[in-house]
Amino acid sequence: MGRKSKLPGLRVKDGYLRHPFDIEYQVETSGLVHGRNLKTGHPNDRHNTAYYAVAPSVFLGLRDLWWSLPRPAPLAQYTFLDFGAGMGRATLLAATMPFRQVVAIELHPALAAMARKNCALWQIQGRAKSPIRVVCADATDFVFPETPCLAFLFNPFRAPVLRALLKSIERSFRDRPGHFDLLYANHEMEAVLHNRPGWQRLWTGNIPLSPQDEQADRQILNHQPDGEYASSTEEPCSIYRWLGHDRAASP
Ligand SMILES: C[S@@+](CC[C@H](N)C(=O)[O-])C[C@H]1O[C@@H](n2cnc3c(N)ncnc32)[C@H](O)[C@@H]1O
Repeated sequence: MGRKSKLPGLRVKDGYLRHPFDIEYQVETSGLVHGRNLKTGHPNDRHNTAYYAVAPSVFLGLRDLWWSLPRPAPLAQYTFLDFGAGMGRATLLAATMPFRQVVAIELHPALAAMARKNCALWQIQGRAKSPIRVVCADATDFVFPETPCLAFLFNPFRAPVLRALLKSIERSFRDRPGHFDLLYANHEMEAVLHNRPGWQRLWTGNIPLSPQDEQADRQILNHQPDGEYASSTEEPCSIYRWLGHDRAASP
């Protein structure tokens, strides 16, 4: 992305500050871009929340919780899907584990291009333990692989898109109960999943940010010109598993 083409929220005058994750690993995942500034011409643009990368400590906390759960297949058979990948911070963190593949799905082309660049750097630095693919597409158009999948959402879109994505998952995994798990961080639209037939909530709770992430988020969010988003010391999250249409809804 050239200097002039930077999205609002990625410019110093918009209060842009680099997160320690980017400084440590020499990648570019920082910045806060409101959904209204992420127009692509797609009908789902209006349901886009914002671009903001997940706190690494929250992602790793959620991943570790999932890791402690029983699962039907070894990790090496799983595809990790980062729906609404932005510049790819969660994708990079996921790729430090030996998944079969990690796929970043991002609607906005400029963010997808940054994710590609970051993933290439990650590979060069030798940090990637799984192959990574970046797809510039709407989440609801994604064609699922034939493998078990672990998906990650960091509150990327509002309820209509989440509902459409769940329908697509339910169709694709109709005959594969237990083979789709969902990590949902900052689960603002979680009501969509409540009592949804075929889904079981395996865990829900607040994941604390590390002191470093908490300080970085506070500095970054206090620096916004319009002060729209507030920082927090913890992130409400949940983990869901697709059990199939034959199974009762979660209690
Ligand atoms: C809050 S950011 C999360 C970034 C990343 N997952 C992370 O945790 O670092 C949400 C991203 O979802 C993207 N997004 C929103 N709606 C989308 C859609 N329908 N399909 C694909 N990506 C979408 C936004 O453009 C934004 O980059």
